[in-house]
Amino acid sequence: MNNTNPIYSLAVAGVQQLIPYKAGKPIEELERELGLTQIIKLASNENPFGAGKKALAAIEAALPELGLYPDGSGYHLKNALANKYGLDVEQITLGNGSNEILELIARAFVTPELEVIFSQHAFAVYPIVTQAVGATGVVVPALNYGHDLNAMLNAVTVKTRVVFVANPNNPTGTLLSQASLEAFIGALPDTVVCVLDEAYFEFVSQVETVNSILGSSFQYSLSTTTIV
Ligand SMILES: Cc1ncc(COP(=O)(O)O)c(C=O)c1O
Repeated sequence: MNNTNPIYSLAVAGVQQLIPYKAGKPIEELERELGLTQIIKLASNENPFGAGKKALAAIEAALPELGLYPDGSGYHLKNALANKYGLDVEQITLGNGSNEILELIARAFVTPELEVIFSQHAFAVYPIVTQAVGATGVVVPALNYGHDLNAMLNAVTVKTRVVFVANPNNPTGTLLSQASLEAFIGALPDTVVCVLDEAYFEFVSQVETVNSILGSSFQYSLSTTTIV
């Protein structure tokens, strides 16, 4: 935020101290800088194959309606997702990317006196959304560059409201086993919301062993306080 503008001092404390998130460089800039071609940015959750043909056709078909507000409740999309994954529509919240969901979670569940736990070397947005709501971020040292679930469990206090777990993790690419995750979630108190962030699950070769919606047994054993 530009702190020479008098409006700066009116922003809530957490927002005043925010340092803008630095997204990955555009591919073109990187190509120019390093003299490389055929770059795929793994640090950004992009589709290296390009947008799907059906997605492009649907966007084109929707263009004449651009002057109208879209359906903010995402009725058709939510119903299609609910059918595909065998979920109730009420279990689904749509976001403009999962970053928006992470932000919504912080705003919906976390107040300044509460704590949010995440791992060292986990996704950069967790500390940002925590700070923005003025809460305390508890960074748990990583184990072999991944989440140390035992240490994260030990970090839970009466003030803990949210725990973020990135699986697979970005940027370190570590992967937690289904068994260790189930044990972790099972051991969390009911007052803690576990956010299982699987934004990168398509990068795992055996998706069904990791993805908590596609993975057969896992989905049913999740606690009611788990958001995936
Ligand atoms: C772990 C993790 N979660 C969430 C996101 C956000 O992704 P998107 O907003 O594209 O869904 C990213 C993007 O890099 C990520 O690495």
